[in-house]
Amino acid sequence: MALTPVALAHASRLVNHGPTVLVTTTHEGRHNVMAAAWSMPVEFTPPRIAVVIDKKTMTRELLQASGRFAIGLPCAALADLTYAVGSQSGHDVDKFARHGLQAVPGPVLGLPLLEGCVAWLELRHIPEAHLEDAYDTVVGEVVSAQADARVFAEGRWRFEDDNAELHTLHHLGGGVFAVPSRTVRARPLPSSP
Ligand SMILES: Cc1cc2nc3c(=O)[nH]c(=O)nc-3n(C[C@H](O)[C@H](O)[C@H](O)COP(=O)(O)O)c2cc1C
Repeated sequence: MALTPVALAHASRLVNHGPTVLVTTTHEGRHNVMAAAWSMPVEFTPPRIAVVIDKKTMTRELLQASGRFAIGLPCAALADLTYAVGSQSGHDVDKFARHGLQAVPGPVLGLPLLEGCVAWLELRHIPEAHLEDAYDTVVGEVVSAQADARVFAEGRWRFEDDNAELHTLHHLGGGVFAVPSRTVRARPLPSSP
């Protein structure tokens, strides 16, 4: 299903609730995908996101070689796939071929955007030598963002009972995920006496 463009000013909101993401990369004809539970916005304008990507992964290799990566947000229907691609390495297996993954090219960087995700972002790698040498963290600048309008509209997630199958995944460990099936709206505190 086609996703709807999201304004870059709202791109950070796609990940600020801590979803597990699927990081896709491509370089010289090789595609790859891995799961990442650790990502967060780190800059407003331009929007930048940090993701922890282990130096040993094939994702890290392709990301650094190509200077770009994409983030897809899987929903409950992709829980098995998310765990599988987070438990296998592209060094050992072609995950796109093994799992019959379908992707569409991203609008700006041509990155593989995985079918079935409820949001996609394309990011240009911002090399940060000190950070990357010391840690497994990489930073990317968001250059395109899209989301499923049934669950993300007017710049925010709308997790309701009637779109539960589209809720994002949050890894609790060992292949168990939570979904944000209930939301709470903050109200103004009563004024002090
Ligand atoms: C749910 C889940 C979340 C994960 N989160 C991260 C993460 O945030 N950072 C990371 O480096 N690895 C994470 N992993 C592990 C990688 O996905 C795993 O090392 C993967 O095999 C790397 O694939 P690649 O070598 O093809 O890039 C996670 C795995 C799972 C199952």
